[in-house]
Amino acid sequence: MTKTDINEELEYIEKVKKINEGKNLKYNVFTMGCQLNENDSEKICGMAEKMGYTKTENIADADLVIYNTCCVRENAEEKLFGKLGEIKKQKEAKGTIIAIGGCMMQEQHIVDKIKKSYKYDVIFGTHTLHKFPKDLYNAIMENKRITDIIDIDGEIIEGLPIKREDNIRASVTIMNGCNNFCTYCIVPYVRGRERSRAPEDIINEIKGLAQMGYKEITLLGQNVNSYMRVEREKAKASMQESNEVNNIKIDSFAKLLRAVNNIDGIEKIRFVSPHPKDFTDDVIEAIRDCEKVSKFIHLPLQSGSTKVLKAMNRVYTKEQYLNLVKKMQEKIPNVKFSTDIIVGFPGETEEDFEDTLDVVKQVKFEQIFMFIYSRRVGTPADKMENQIPEEIKHKRFDRLKALYEEQIEENNKAYIGTVHNLLVEGYSKTNSNFLTGRTDSNKVIIFEGNDSLIGKVVPVKIVSEHLWYLKGEVLETK
Ligand code: 5AD
Ligand code: SF4
Repeated sequence: MTKTDINEELEYIEKVKKINEGKNLKYNVFTMGCQLNENDSEKICGMAEKMGYTKTENIADADLVIYNTCCVRENAEEKLFGKLGEIKKQKEAKGTIIAIGGCMMQEQHIVDKIKKSYKYDVIFGTHTLHKFPKDLYNAIMENKRITDIIDIDGEIIEGLPIKREDNIRASVTIMNGCNNFCTYCIVPYVRGRERSRAPEDIINEIKGLAQMGYKEITLLGQNVNSYMRVEREKAKASMQESNEVNNIKIDSFAKLLRAVNNIDGIEKIRFVSPHPKDFTDDVIEAIRDCEKVSKFIHLPLQSGSTKVLKAMNRVYTKEQYLNLVKKMQEKIPNVKFSTDIIVGFPGETEEDFEDTLDVVKQVKFEQIFMFIYSRRVGTPADKMENQIPEEIKHKRFDRLKALYEEQIEENNKAYIGTVHNLLVEGYSKTNSNFLTGRTDSNKVIIFEGNDSLIGKVVPVKIVSEHLWYLKGEVLETK
């Protein structure tokens, strides 16, 4: 995959900065999507700040408002149209510049609707994020609307400025796009084909983060554990040597995990989202061997019914999923799982849904992200005739939720008395008397302590449980 040269685009950052000089302008970013979208928003913030804008959380104060959209489920669309309706008055009153980017802008019918019915200045897509400064400059100078969407598969963009939300935990995109084409999912159409960042760029970025004091890294991608697969296959076909960093050839996710594990200063490594089909033995062994890699694994199930999984094009059966869980439990001590589940996929019968509940009962996930199936224009599942009525979807969703809550209580009890080394993130947002951190399995723990602990890893013993958080006590440290 060739890297796109973005030097020309980056020059527009300076150009916008010049026209903004002395104006004390503010910007606001509204992010609607997944962690990849959040990571893109950090790049949008990086560009906006270099263009002379300062961040405000109050839209009413903003001179530039950027919507970074998501299109994975339907409710995001309604939300965006609501937001665009609300901002119209502000734009008319004080000329607020409106920019809309992200996944939803890769859908023609949405862009057409916005063009027809809403006010905006710039529309950019997932493949034109780096062109935002240029488009903004042209929109301001020519006083016209710019729509800059390209429908290519996307290349690798390196070197965009970034302003990170947090100073302890950082997300690093390692690959983009998806080749799986699960039949419900719009992602392959809006993010393009799977392509991986060069390992040296990833390693250098993480080394830089470690030097800045970051402790926790989340490796991001739509299908992280197929990192470098496409590139590896291409290299094999043309007999090329694969990438080498410090003499370790990094041409797979397992090798990337091992290389990141060797970076001094980083204490915890997480990754989302993997696909069950790509949990090869080398990946499982790397998770087992690398002490910094979290043993809390996100393993998207989507459905527990082999029939529905087939219709979803997930390429594994109920049994294969359960066997994978078992294998990981055998190989990785104390491994725990989170998952994504969709209820009400076309053709899902009561029996199919019970298969999903059965897998939930067997695996006892620590965390379940539950979704009601949402029809996405352009996906194969949208064209399936056996769509499930809304009422049934909602009832099944409630049943799954009830089972999940029952299991959280059960799982929580097992935490009491256990000791966890927690990275202290800061004061709790909901109760500022307590510090907060998360167990490896993403349970929120609150505990008493002072500022000096923030950013450190401390042993905390769990003393009581509540549905959505646990309470702990810091143990004496040497
Ligand atoms: N409807 C409902 N949920 C969806 N997801 C993806 N597409 C859809 C859809 N059309 C869910 C999947 C995926 C998560 C990010 O979003 O569970 O893993
Ligand atoms: Fe969508 Fe499936 Fe790719 Fe995930 S793996 S982004 S659900 S197509």
